[in-house]
Amino acid sequence: MKKILALIGSPRKLGNCEIVAKMISGQIKEPHELNLLRISDFNIKLCRGCYMCLIKNKCPLKDDLGLVIDAFAEADAFIVAAPTYCLGANASLKLLADRILFFYSRNAEIWGKPAVGVGVAGIEGKEGSTKLQIDSFMTLFQMQIKASEILYGAMPGEAALEDANKPLISGLANALFNDPVKDSAPGCPLCGGDTFRFYENNRVRCMLCSNEGKVDTSGLFPVFHIGTSSHELLLTQQDALSHGQWLQQMKQKFGEDKTKLKQVTRQYADMGSWIRPLEKTDTGPERRGQRGKNG
Ligand SMILES: Cc1cc2nc3c(=O)[nH]c(=O)nc-3n(C[C@H](O)[C@H](O)[C@H](O)COP(=O)(O)O)c2cc1C
Repeated sequence: MKKILALIGSPRKLGNCEIVAKMISGQIKEPHELNLLRISDFNIKLCRGCYMCLIKNKCPLKDDLGLVIDAFAEADAFIVAAPTYCLGANASLKLLADRILFFYSRNAEIWGKPAVGVGVAGIEGKEGSTKLQIDSFMTLFQMQIKASEILYGAMPGEAALEDANKPLISGLANALFNDPVKDSAPGCPLCGGDTFRFYENNRVRCMLCSNEGKVDTSGLFPVFHIGTSSHELLLTQQDALSHGQWLQQMKQKFGEDKTKLKQVTRQYADMGSWIRPLEKTDTGPERRGQRGKNG
């Protein structure tokens, strides 16, 4: 039996994300087991950007990331559900996405699984970048994106009551183990992304795959002509692995440029004073950490 992992971005128990994920599962015809993972239940620390995961194949942060990776590895398919907070997906997806390089070490167990994404916003039209962020999350984890949608509903359970959400939920349920939903809206010919940045001379960049091209607006709908770049990040699993190897090569380049870089960074070491968080002491109450130099 297939195992579906529903990643729930909302910290709210029995909130819209959780309920919608369960509704999607309830309408999937293939027999499956539904497992749910609320990201905020886990202690996931911020990536420190040390690259030890690539260089030494281990992460110095002590947290629950390993448990999350195990859950990803065990799943056959994903439902990614996140609420809109402040015009974007809430921070939980980004917290995991920023640890992506550590997931590379187990890419064979994790990548290439089908997924549907769903964002829930409280006010119609005020989802901001939520869909792009959910699509980016699924792309980063090399999931096969079958479909993604934005639903509306503010109070817990409201998304289940809204009639307009019902066909979207059914569509997501049908898509997970079937062909990707064909979107009639104009999109990136490379990745299917539907968010763009526009520049002079009809130049355009897809915000999902970061590739560039031109947009033709002479017809009824804009048509995007976008080509691959010399450094692809995400279009294929090989791109992602090549990017990982490129990052590893940066280690050697860092060795070569170290002296030059040190000269630059040293100039900024003593500038300004840092405001520190409270420090716990053994002897007395918490006190503010000393203002200090250099981070
Ligand atoms: C801190 C915060 C910020 C929010 N910002 C937005 C927003 O920018 N746009 C919007 O449409 N809804 C916003 N909402 C509403 C939520 O998207 C909405 O209540 C949603 O149903 C929450 O999903 P949940 O029940 O799964 O937590 C915000 C909610 C919170 C708590």
